[in-house]
Amino acid sequence: MKIAVLGFGTVGSGVYEISQNLKDIEVKKVLEKDLSKINIATDNYDEIINDREIELVVECMGGLHPAYEFIMKALQNKKHVVSANKAVIAKYLDEFLKAAQENGVEFRFEASVGGGIPCLAGIQKIRRVENVDKIYGIFNGTSNFILDNMYRFENEFFTTLKTAQELGYAEADPSADIDGYDVTNKVIISFALAYDGFIKNEFPCFTLRDITKEDVSYFRKKGYIAKYIGEAITSGNEYQASVMLNLFPTNALEGNVLSNYNMITVVSHTMGEVKFYGQGAGKLPTANAIIQDILDIITGVQFHKTSIAKKYSYSPNLLKHKYVLRFNEELKGNFEKIEKDRNNFYHFTSEISQAELIKLIKGKDCLVTKLSEVLA
Ligand code: NAP
Ligand code: HSE
Repeated sequence: MKIAVLGFGTVGSGVYEISQNLKDIEVKKVLEKDLSKINIATDNYDEIINDREIELVVECMGGLHPAYEFIMKALQNKKHVVSANKAVIAKYLDEFLKAAQENGVEFRFEASVGGGIPCLAGIQKIRRVENVDKIYGIFNGTSNFILDNMYRFENEFFTTLKTAQELGYAEADPSADIDGYDVTNKVIISFALAYDGFIKNEFPCFTLRDITKEDVSYFRKKGYIAKYIGEAITSGNEYQASVMLNLFPTNALEGNVLSNYNMITVVSHTMGEVKFYGQGAGKLPTANAIIQDILDIITGVQFHKTSIAKKYSYSPNLLKHKYVLRFNEELKGNFEKIEKDRNNFYHFTSEISQAELIKLIKGKDCLVTKLSEVLA
């Protein structure tokens, strides 16, 4: 199949590199601003859209615009689209799926969640048999790289972010990685496949950037390790989701996910917990996921048809959890315990809902962590 690649950056160049060893895929054109990057580059998208030989477009430019317009134009011109761009997918998945269906082509996006890990395909295989009860996990390589460095090497937050950027893990604007938008997008995309619904980013998302070396050291003394977790569950037509630091026992599987690795867990009735572990970011792992989607389109492989027909509304009252909240002063209130460490006051809550948590921390400067179910 002849394809075009939009964006010859970290991921796009990886797609080209892997395709060189495959007889079924030929990259005919690359859309780039800098034409010197590769001899098949063009900066005119019409050359790709009007090329009848190109049957599939890989979008790995990033950002919302013009990625949205380019994806829609490809689908409307009856070209399959494979994208790694979680930001645009989490916002416009409904429109992309509709356009693909109306034009008899495929829209696939395995690389958008978990980089090289086939977790969306895994969810779809589970869905062939049964519903998903819960999804949760480490969805972002950059934030895990930072937390792992802070824990193992006692580094400060921002010194490790620069390394993650140099290694090609971080987004062009790394605030997406450290403020949780990237995980939010991946939760929205995974939710669509797990629960057949398209939710908006209306659930709580707490930034990672407030965690300090002192917090990591205090949690270590308590036998905990902090990991940045996205999760989602449903009950009837309601759902609850969040993006926040969770505290795991140091011997938990999540606690031992190192470097830029991800671990995404899918829970279902007959399977119990299935954990998808691997490189969640980086040139070749992510490109591999894109290539897998292309090969699946060529060979007609689909485990479970993607549908987002169900309607869900966000509820902050579905589940109760225990939280550890760090403030710089002692609060009055109904806490299980409060511990002082250096100048920090760690408040341990009883089991409370998300609605109660939001009320408790409103207007206050604090670090929010949730005790994982293993600990609670
Ligand atoms: P990147 O290295 O910044 O590459 C993007 C490329 O697209 C750059 O060469 C950029 O050129 C080009 N580009 C952007 N807008 C363009 C336009 N309008 N016309 C032509 N070329 C354009 O980014 P990346 O890391 O490969 O990520 C690409 C996408 O994959 C993002 O959506 C990202 O979220 C997703 N993703 C990345 C990873 C990863 O590990 N890196 C993993 C999974 C998913 P300029 O630099 O000149 O702007
Ligand atoms: N910036 C993302 C991460 C890339 O660090 O996980 C993969 O989606």
